Amino acid sequence: MDLDRRAFIRKSCLACASIAGIGVLSTLVQSCSPLVSLKVTPEQGFLNVPLSHFTETNKLVLLKNYEALDFDIAVVQLAGNQYKAFQMQCTHVANNPLVATKNGFFCNTHGSAFGFDGQVTNSPAKRPLKEYQLEITSEIIKVKL
Ligand code: FES
Repeated sequence: MDLDRRAFIRKSCLACASIAGIGVLSTLVQSCSPLVSLKVTPEQGFLNVPLSHFTETNKLVLLKNYEALDFDIAVVQLAGNQYKAFQMQCTHVANNPLVATKNGFFCNTHGSAFGFDGQVTNSPAKRPLKEYQLEITSEIIKVKL
């Protein structure tokens, strides 16, 4: 009888833990799903981003290359199929990276925030983000370095 009770408690705890684990995992997947991160290599002065990475649910692609870029570059799809690319560096004090959030870009150092249009939405930063020129074809966004 005691063994049955222990087995029941053990099974119940495992079931609860797995449900809690699934809950955490699905939250992580939901919070991560809008962000695509690509390791890119410059080609003739451009970073190429396939347009196929932008979908109904994904409007942001982060370009990473620790050797070629001082900071990541965020390519954003705005309303009306407009695209912009920004350096993920805070404009308040140099050398501080930004993180992408669901509302824009955020600097953990002093709390500056920027919208997906690169404009300051929360000080102390006063200048907008550095923007890159783009060339857009039917399949590729080319970010000019
Ligand atoms: S360095 Fe980013 S807010 Fe100060």
